[in-house]
Amino acid sequence: MPVAYEVPRINVLSIPAQSVDADVVVVPVAEDHASGAVAEFDAAVGNSLSVALARGEFTPRALESFTAPIVASGWTATRMVFMGAGLRAELTAERLRRMAGAAVGLARQQRRGRLAWLDVEPGSLDAVQRADILGEGLTIANFDGGIHKSRPEPRFFISDVTVVTAANGAAQAAVAGRIIGDAINSARVLINEPGNCLVPAGLADKAASLASVDGVTVEVFDERKLETMGMGLLLGVGRGSAEPPRMLVARYEPVEAAKDIVIGLVGKGVTFDTGGISIKPADGMERMKDDMAGAASVVAALRAIALLKVPVRVIAVVPAAENMPGGRALKPGDVLRSGSGLTVEVNNTDAEGRLILGDALWYARQLGATHLVDVATLTGACIVALGKITTGLFGTPQPWVDAIRVAAQRGGEKVWQMPLFEEYKETLKSDIADMLNSPGRPAGAVTAAMFLKEFAGNGPWAHLDIAGTAWADEAKPWMGKGATGAIIRTLVELGRGPIPR
Ligand code: BES
Ligand code: MN
Ligand code: ZN
Repeated sequence: MPVAYEVPRINVLSIPAQSVDADVVVVPVAEDHASGAVAEFDAAVGNSLSVALARGEFTPRALESFTAPIVASGWTATRMVFMGAGLRAELTAERLRRMAGAAVGLARQQRRGRLAWLDVEPGSLDAVQRADILGEGLTIANFDGGIHKSRPEPRFFISDVTVVTAANGAAQAAVAGRIIGDAINSARVLINEPGNCLVPAGLADKAASLASVDGVTVEVFDERKLETMGMGLLLGVGRGSAEPPRMLVARYEPVEAAKDIVIGLVGKGVTFDTGGISIKPADGMERMKDDMAGAASVVAALRAIALLKVPVRVIAVVPAAENMPGGRALKPGDVLRSGSGLTVEVNNTDAEGRLILGDALWYARQLGATHLVDVATLTGACIVALGKITTGLFGTPQPWVDAIRVAAQRGGEKVWQMPLFEEYKETLKSDIADMLNSPGRPAGAVTAAMFLKEFAGNGPWAHLDIAGTAWADEAKPWMGKGATGAIIRTLVELGRGPIPR
């Protein structure tokens, strides 16, 4: 089976641009660049840049590019790509990542395997931030989906990346970014896997090996153990499948971390969601192989945090199940008893994510998590509300939600806070149990979050609904189709702190 991605070697050098040895040299150019800022590079390409700019053949709007051969003597490299950055003030982490990805895309198309990035346009970022984002962005664009073809098209990956910068700390930051990018790619591979290739036990195994790095302990519970633990919601969802459910717990507990903060990351691991007896329509159901994106994301984030030796305690809890109809399957109207003791009337078996997360959130709190975040492809309603652009953010208290907003902004990801007003809780009332799992269409993303809140205990908790952002239906210049690895970067930034007590 061909590999889905390669992690490029990374060099960070403080040398004159002319002596950079690469197959393609990328120069970011802002729309409002200072005249003279690009003179050296214009000269390298025999003034073809200034000609193209003057004629309007190239406008350095974000992600527009201009490729030209290097003709001046004294240069080692032979080709230059000018990558549009748009307005300086708008050059954020997200835009820089996209520019890096687009440059890798171009180099791969041109079959030029050694790419150099000249860090000459600061935008609104500092040099260390830029190096970190570049390390990540250049890595995640070196990725392809579709690895099950019997006769795969030949793939071309970037082998070497050189970031040219004089900044202190840039080398370490670029290497950190590459570690994050690698973790993101490993999650994308899992998310792209078809449902028959990745069942709950397989997801637990793969997640366990991803989490198995220095300083992390991993446990996987099988269905018999889950029974003794009383995980009735997870077991209920798993009942219809021939593939039994699992739960994975990974703990990263560095000695130098504060003892009173334990981030609990909980990720939805539904390896395939047919809807169960409340079965989904056939159209588009194949996408439901990505219903474990939350699980892959939290494990990838924990892996990156541990590899980066971030001094913070993190526990990841991943409930994994396959949601199938079947002779033993959960039925509408069934009542389940959760680990926490709360009973749930299941009026819709397709609202399965909140069930397995309910048990996992409660369990994470039992394990000592003080600050919870769950990540889930939870509701179609979140796609209706925010589209495929923005991750839905819910939570309480506000300082914890704000910490996540800040982390997302630093990492260049879009999240938007949604309300959790008390009044929404009404809708979760059941006549025969403590709560109902599916209160109906209005505010579907909010009521799902309200359900989760009941299992999160009293401490800080946030919920990220990635139903829209986990999967790209269309290829973009900076990233191909399929799993995106959304929100992993945000979780790593969150771990880096500061964390409100
Ligand atoms: N995994 C789905 C949510 C989903 C839908 C993610 C489309 C990505 C794209 C989830 O388990 C689900 O089925 N949710 C239901 C909830 C409803 C029954 C209350 C939904 O959104 O329709
Ligand atoms: Mn469902
Ligand atoms: Zn689902």
